[in-house]
Amino acid sequence: MRNHPLKPFPKDFLWGASTSAYQVEGAWNEDGKGPSVMDVAEHPKEVTDFKVASDHYHRYKEDIALFAELGLKAYRFSISWSRIFPEGTGEVNQKGIDFYNNLINELKKHHIEPVVTMYHFDLPYALQKKGGWLNRETIDAYENYAKTLFENFGDRVKYWLTINEQNVMILFGELLGTVDRNAENPKKELYQQNHHMFVAQAKAMILCHRMLPDAKIGPAPNISAVYPISPQPEDVLAAHTFSSLRNWLYLDAAVFGRYNSTVWSYLEKKQAIPEIQDGDMAILKEAKPDFIAFNYYSTMTVGANLPQKVSNNKREDQQMAFEEPGFFKGHPNPNLPKTEYGWEIDPVGLRTTLREIYERYHLPLLITENGLGAQDRLEEGDVVNDDYRIDYLQKHIEQCRLALDDGVELIGYCPWSAIDLVSTHQGISKRYGFIYVNRDEFDLKDLRRIPKKSFYWYKKVIASNGEDLANE
Ligand code: BG6
Repeated sequence: MRNHPLKPFPKDFLWGASTSAYQVEGAWNEDGKGPSVMDVAEHPKEVTDFKVASDHYHRYKEDIALFAELGLKAYRFSISWSRIFPEGTGEVNQKGIDFYNNLINELKKHHIEPVVTMYHFDLPYALQKKGGWLNRETIDAYENYAKTLFENFGDRVKYWLTINEQNVMILFGELLGTVDRNAENPKKELYQQNHHMFVAQAKAMILCHRMLPDAKIGPAPNISAVYPISPQPEDVLAAHTFSSLRNWLYLDAAVFGRYNSTVWSYLEKKQAIPEIQDGDMAILKEAKPDFIAFNYYSTMTVGANLPQKVSNNKREDQQMAFEEPGFFKGHPNPNLPKTEYGWEIDPVGLRTTLREIYERYHLPLLITENGLGAQDRLEEGDVVNDDYRIDYLQKHIEQCRLALDDGVELIGYCPWSAIDLVSTHQGISKRYGFIYVNRDEFDLKDLRRIPKKSFYWYKKVIASNGEDLANE
């Protein structure tokens, strides 16, 4: 039995919500924007592309007015690199700068703190054509892009996120199309890309601190606790290996400026050690994040895996399904319910994850994504009864509070997503937002905005600073 009242959420807690540029903006080729890898990616024919998305580019004022009505204290969005630099580098597109200036000013007008992701999966296609992250020149392009962002928006943006889910881009590079499946050793290419991203991220953190002494910057991977499928020692070991590869590699590099030893040995076995140039590790060491942002959807359950043929797990089967003969294999967790898209729901796992990250790095934590994708139904009278989403978020917020009580320094919670947007792989029908966007996969209808039941619920949560989580 608890014998003391739970610690409250801090007074300045960043109650927020998230989106990303290619998923929400649309206007994919307007006002000088260059194509990104997401614009040219192949789509399964049953889902829409990102060309119009939620048309936020043209409706940002209306959207931000709704975010203000919701009571958001923070809005986490990403800047489209190819809107600023259509070619990835070189000439700046002034109209791109203007758009984000307007967006940031509009947020400020409503007292909403902008939390900016500098790069969220949408590498400029012009850079991809030159080798993307495999090419070291992309590091310079990213640093130059970072400098441009700091120069133009640094007077108003205090929170910066370097790279969204670098770990997902590497772990699922073959699915996300960032690596050629037919390469001689795709893993070697992926971990070379990964190393270049580490250096780029470190350079951006160093630059941010030099240019903007009051700003805060951090990485934004997808982190989750990893459970062993059984107490059998081999399963526990496999879970540990997987967690190093999925989680700690990324945060050890960002925070301590070093490679995780378990991962290094794995890379040796896979002949996938990246080429590290003189000075790279010194740059990683010099860079220090001010906080850790992370996305959390669920945990992973893993067991030992004997050498055998790999089955082709898809991300949608289980958000982080993964297997590696001789190392580990993902399993469903029989204790957890699933969303209609098969993603396991594990609120307690969020508390475990928060504790694990905090104990390891002792930095303030910001949750930048957490949410439930579902096929919401617009009912008569413009009503969306998304009680399942309320239930999901309520249980996760409860665990945030318990983690705060455990001593974790949690500074904010930004669920995915502020408004309906196009899912990375499964179209617009897989909705996450507090605000419904009236369109279907291929019928744009009127794109009108309709607050869902979860909107009114979250508004009450924010107004009560997390004290009132009831759904009535
Ligand atoms: C995260 C990404 O991986 O998960 C988002 O940062 C993404 O871009 C979100 O949309 C949900 O995944 P999905 O595949 O359901 O869109």
